Amino acid sequence: MCGIIGYIGNNDAKAFLLDGLEKMEYRGYDSSGISVMSGNKIHTFKKRGRLQILRESLKNQQDVSGFVGIGHTRWATHGGASDINAHPQNSQSGRISVVHNGIIENYISLKNFLLEKGFKFISDTDTEVVAQLIDFYYKDNFFEAVKTAVSKLEGSYALGILCSNEPDKIIAAKKDSPLIVGIGEDENYIASDVTALISKTRKIYRLEENDIAVVKKDKVTIYSNAGKKVLDRDKDCTTIDWDIESVGKGNYDHFMMKEIMQQPKVLKKTIDSLIKNGKIDFLDVGLTDEYLKSLSKIFIVACGSAYHVGVVGRYVVEKLAKISVEVELASEFRYKEPLVDESSLVIVISQSGETADSLAALREAKKLGAKVLSIVNVVGSSIANESDYVIYTLAGQEIAVATTKAYSCQLSVVYILALYFAERFKSISDDDLSKYIAELISLPDKLELILQQKDELLEIAQKYKDISCAFFIGRTLDYAVCMEGSLKLKEVSYVHCEAYAAGELKHGTISLIEKGTLVIALLTQDELFDKTVSNLREVKARGARIFAITTANHRSKINEVADDVYFIPECLNLMSPVLSVIPLQLLSYYSAFLRGCDIDKPRNLAKSVTVE
Ligand code: M6R
Repeated sequence: MCGIIGYIGNNDAKAFLLDGLEKMEYRGYDSSGISVMSGNKIHTFKKRGRLQILRESLKNQQDVSGFVGIGHTRWATHGGASDINAHPQNSQSGRISVVHNGIIENYISLKNFLLEKGFKFISDTDTEVVAQLIDFYYKDNFFEAVKTAVSKLEGSYALGILCSNEPDKIIAAKKDSPLIVGIGEDENYIASDVTALISKTRKIYRLEENDIAVVKKDKVTIYSNAGKKVLDRDKDCTTIDWDIESVGKGNYDHFMMKEIMQQPKVLKKTIDSLIKNGKIDFLDVGLTDEYLKSLSKIFIVACGSAYHVGVVGRYVVEKLAKISVEVELASEFRYKEPLVDESSLVIVISQSGETADSLAALREAKKLGAKVLSIVNVVGSSIANESDYVIYTLAGQEIAVATTKAYSCQLSVVYILALYFAERFKSISDDDLSKYIAELISLPDKLELILQQKDELLEIAQKYKDISCAFFIGRTLDYAVCMEGSLKLKEVSYVHCEAYAAGELKHGTISLIEKGTLVIALLTQDELFDKTVSNLREVKARGARIFAITTANHRSKINEVADDVYFIPECLNLMSPVLSVIPLQLLSYYSAFLRGCDIDKPRNLAKSVTVE
C-alpha cells in the first residue's frame, strides 16, 4: 500500500531515499516525505501529491544533508492526503520519526491514553500515535522503547523509525506488512520491496512476523521470536537475481504497455517451469497422491484480478478434474465461516503475495485444518512463506498498478494445475491430456500474434474513447474474462463498466441500455455462440453499439450483429481466456491513453493492498 525506505551509511541519505521512493511510488502516491538525521537532529520534509512535488520542494533546502534517513510514499488510510498527514510522522518532542505501512487498529485507545499523559496530536493518522508511543516509552534505550511500543499495537505495521538520541541506527519492525533489510558495503537499507534496493544491493533479508531489526551502517541485528541474531550476508540473506532492466520502462511510455508486451515471454517461462518434455512436472510442489485422494473440495480464494483467475479456475478444474470448486473473494471468505476442513484444499492466488485479505484468508483456512497451495509471483512473500505448497508464476516484477502479465501467468498455472488434478484423479484420457498440454505450449505464440496487431485495438479505442459506461457480457469462461476486462477498463480509464453473464442482463440491467451504450461481448465458446448472439440482438434492438471478440470461424454471423469485431487466433475453447483477455487489456490501455489518464498510477489505487 505505502512504500517505506531507509538508509544508513556514509553517503547522502536524501538522494538514496528519493530514488528509492521513485521506484516504489506505485505502492502509493498521494503524498511523500523523508526524515534525515543531521547530527542529533531529525529534519522532516513532506508534501501532498506526487513525489516530484517533494523533490522540487527539497531543491533549496539547506538542512537535508545527512547519512541516515527514512522515507515514505503514501496511500492514505487514516486522514486524507495532506502535508500534515503525510509520513514521516514525528513525536511532539521531535525525538522520534516514523514511517509506517499498515493500519493500527487500536490507535484511538492508544491516542486517548497518550492524550491523558499530555501528548498533543497534529495529524489524523494512526502513525503519529506510534511515534508518540515510542517517545512515551523512551527512557534511555531506543530499542527497548520500540519493543514496548509495538507490543501495545494491534493491527498491521511495517515501521521504519529514527531516534535523534541514537543517530547511529534505524529500527525496523514488521507485522502483517512486508519489510526487507538490504545489506550493502558499509551501508544498509530498509524497504518495502526489492525494487527500491536493486540498484544498490542484491543481498536482502525479509523480516518475519514480529521481527524487530536494528540497522546500523555496519551491522544488522534481528530480534525475533527465535531470539537475537546478527545478520550474516551470505548465510541469512537471499540473493536477488533480477535483471536491473526489469525495474525500468525500457522503450515503452508506460509500464502497463511494457508488461502487456512481455506476456508471450513470461507466459512461456511459467509454462516451461511446470511442463517438461510434454509432461506436467510438479515434483517441486510436493503434493502427494495420498493427500490428493483425501480431498473432497477445492476453494480458490483471491482478490481483484487474481479472483478473476479463480473464476476461470473453477470452470476449468471442475470440467477437467471433476472435483467441486468454490471461488471466493478473500475479503468475504475470511469472515464468512467457510465450510473448510482437512478435506479441503485452499488455493490462494496473489501476484504480490502480500494482499492483506488473501493472507488473512490463508490463515483462516489453515486454522480450519485445510492445507493451502498458493500461486504467487513474489518469491519469499508472506503468502508464499505461510503456504503448505507454492507454485511461482514467473512474470517478473510487475510495476503498473493494473495487472496484465501476472494475470496471464496465473491463468496458465491454473490450467496446468487443473490438468495435473485431472491426471492424478484419472478423469482425463491420455489423448486429451496431451492435446491440452500441446495447446498450452502453443499459447505464447498465439498471444504474440495478437500483440502484433495491437493497432487494431487502438482504432477501436479511438472510436469509443468518449463513452461514459460499458457493459461486458459473455457466458461461462467468457463471463470470467469479462470480469477482468471490465475491471481493467474501469481501473485505468475511469469508464464505469459492469460485467454480466450474458443471460443475466435481461433480468434487470438491460434497463440501462440506451442508444449508443457500448456492449463489449466475448464469444469464444462455440457451443454458446448462438446464445450470446441472441443476447446481442436484444441489446442492439435497444440501441447498443457492439464490440465483439470471437474467432474467425464465426465471421459471417458476428458481422451481422456487431459494429466492430476483433478475431483472436483459433484455440481450444477451454483455453481461450489466455487469448481473449489480451485485446481487453490493450483496449483498456489505449482508452486510458486517449483519455489522458495516468495509466501506471490510476487515481485512488495502489499496487499492493496490504490493508484490509
Ligand atoms: O497482489 P494480488 O494479486 O493479491 O492483488 C490482488 C488485487 O489487488 C489486484 O489483482 C488488483 O485487482 C489489480 N490492480 C487489478 O489490475
